[in-house]
Amino acid sequence: MRVLLTGAAGFIGSHVRQALVEAGDEVVAIDAMLAAAHGARATVPDGVHQVDVRDPDALAGLLRGVEVVCHQAAVVGAGVSAVDAPAYASHNDLGTAVLLAVMAEVGVRRLVLASSMVVYGEGRYRTADSGPIVPPPRRREDLEAGVFDYRDAATGALLDWMPVGEDSPLLPRSLYAAGKVAQEHYASAWATVTGGSVAALRYHNVYGEYMPRDTPYSGVAAIFRSVLAVGEAPRVFEDGCQMRDFVHVRDVAVANVAAVHAAVPGFVPLNIASGTPISVGAVAELLAQAHGGKQPVVTGEYRPGDVRHIVASPDRAQRVLGFRAAIAPDAGLAEFATAPLRAVAGAGAPQWR
Ligand code: UD1
Repeated sequence: MRVLLTGAAGFIGSHVRQALVEAGDEVVAIDAMLAAAHGARATVPDGVHQVDVRDPDALAGLLRGVEVVCHQAAVVGAGVSAVDAPAYASHNDLGTAVLLAVMAEVGVRRLVLASSMVVYGEGRYRTADSGPIVPPPRRREDLEAGVFDYRDAATGALLDWMPVGEDSPLLPRSLYAAGKVAQEHYASAWATVTGGSVAALRYHNVYGEYMPRDTPYSGVAAIFRSVLAVGEAPRVFEDGCQMRDFVHVRDVAVANVAAVHAAVPGFVPLNIASGTPISVGAVAELLAQAHGGKQPVVTGEYRPGDVRHIVASPDRAQRVLGFRAAIAPDAGLAEFATAPLRAVAGAGAPQWR
């Protein structure tokens, strides 16, 4: 199958490229090679066309004969400052809009979209006898007092977390998340108008070899791995009991190959997760032990925008794509503890003026 892969030189994109080639697909690989992600003097990897998805003319030429677009290109991270908004809007929102428009013109009807669990915002909770509850953001007074968990407003009982399903409401809480929701909405509307097919893969916390070293835009696995590499102890915020789903990048690549090969009806969002939730404290301990580094320190600090628990239900991806993660977090994180990282290229979002 002829596949146009965007973001092909990035952390996830380069793993997807390799997996597609191994699956026998013909990959047309493109990447904008943004200095913020790759450095100002990075060499373009062999076989990658240096093309920005916002360039309709370049895209039109490369899309001829393509059956599916696998769209991994994006400015990543949570958005450190409000000043980052135009970079997200331009590269992620406008980039996707241009890509979809040119696909429609050329007659390419299938898209696999890299989305994220950040579209949900906070995870889902319940009391012993309630259905899913979506609590409002945690109060600063509670966080200051070290009260990190949600409690039932009526009884004060601790709320239990539950896995989030794809039909949950979307409540983005960061600039990056706002852009991921926008990308999904553009793609969904495009599928309706064109009769096209979109699999939106909502990645949970992705980690694995050649993950970029930590920057202010990195996820926690890269941060812990990077501090261990310089002989320091991972600093675990809150009480370390916050739950996430860490999914290995090779599993994410397998999910993309499955989505490229399975035409879904219309717009279908799918959680891409390991299915084995783990606490952030346990991630730090596993990495520290496997690295032979300093024991983690639980600091009790908090970041105001953080969600408490966000854990996926991977069932729909299994049903629709036949995808089930093969790498359990304990094995994958132990491997990641000594795996090579990508050198830091920049510490910020791309310039927008
Ligand atoms: C992360 C990404 C998000 C991405 C998503 C899915 C960031 C900032 N967040 O969301 O963009 O879409 O995964 O892949 O890139 N923590 C520590 N110590 C630290 C840093 C963080 O304990 O040094 C804690 C945080 O307080 C939080 C948890 O680790 O409770 C996860 O943090 P992080 O990976 O940054 O954010 P996610 O919400 O999981």
